Amino acid sequence: MHRLIKFVENPLLNKHLERQATSLEMGFLDPSSEDFEEAPQIIVAELEHSQAINRIIDWKRRWPECYVALSVSELDRERWIAAESAGADLVANRGALPRLLRDKMKLLQQGDSLTKQKLRLKAKAVVNSGDGLVGRLPDSPEDPIAVFRMGNQLCAVRDVCPHAGFSLADGVFDPVSGSITCPEHGSRFQVCTGERLRGPADYPLRIYPALSEQEEIWVEIEQEA
Ligand code: FES
Repeated sequence: MHRLIKFVENPLLNKHLERQATSLEMGFLDPSSEDFEEAPQIIVAELEHSQAINRIIDWKRRWPECYVALSVSELDRERWIAAESAGADLVANRGALPRLLRDKMKLLQQGDSLTKQKLRLKAKAVVNSGDGLVGRLPDSPEDPIAVFRMGNQLCAVRDVCPHAGFSLADGVFDPVSGSITCPEHGSRFQVCTGERLRGPADYPLRIYPALSEQEEIWVEIEQEA
């Protein structure tokens, strides 16, 4: 039996999700049932829920293999990215989500994995013998990425400020706190955790695994298989 759970209030979305599941002879479990104690394979929720980002983090902590999908009704790109940064596997418009999820349900039915492919990308090195900016990926298939060194650690972040989209790579790096301050309006972020330390940005930064191999810097991103 497949374990699909949804926390969805919108009646239309509920209807379409049920329809897609039923067409594959699948169904959603009652989120309050005890089955929820077993790791779900797919969770669907709405990004408008005030606790959505915290819930994604919690679900992914408890069930890292679970495929978490979120619907959005209004385009708020930074909230969208915050959801992906929190671990959401799919964020899609309310109208498109049921059909996209059907493909995932079908994979489950065939016994296939829903996990994403990992892609390694080489960063362009930035000459810097100390802590701070050491690499950039301006043309990554995602958004631009900046890599910072902090002691022995390499920390890669999305190089787009969630406030108004400016590059953070040219901001001021503080080696003590490991934070970068946006050169435009002063938002500050911890580069290894992505945590937002100061606004006006409302959201944290997306982070990526980074490593050094044979004096080259590599960043790992995930893409749909
Ligand atoms: S663009 Fe970064 S704080 Fe405004």
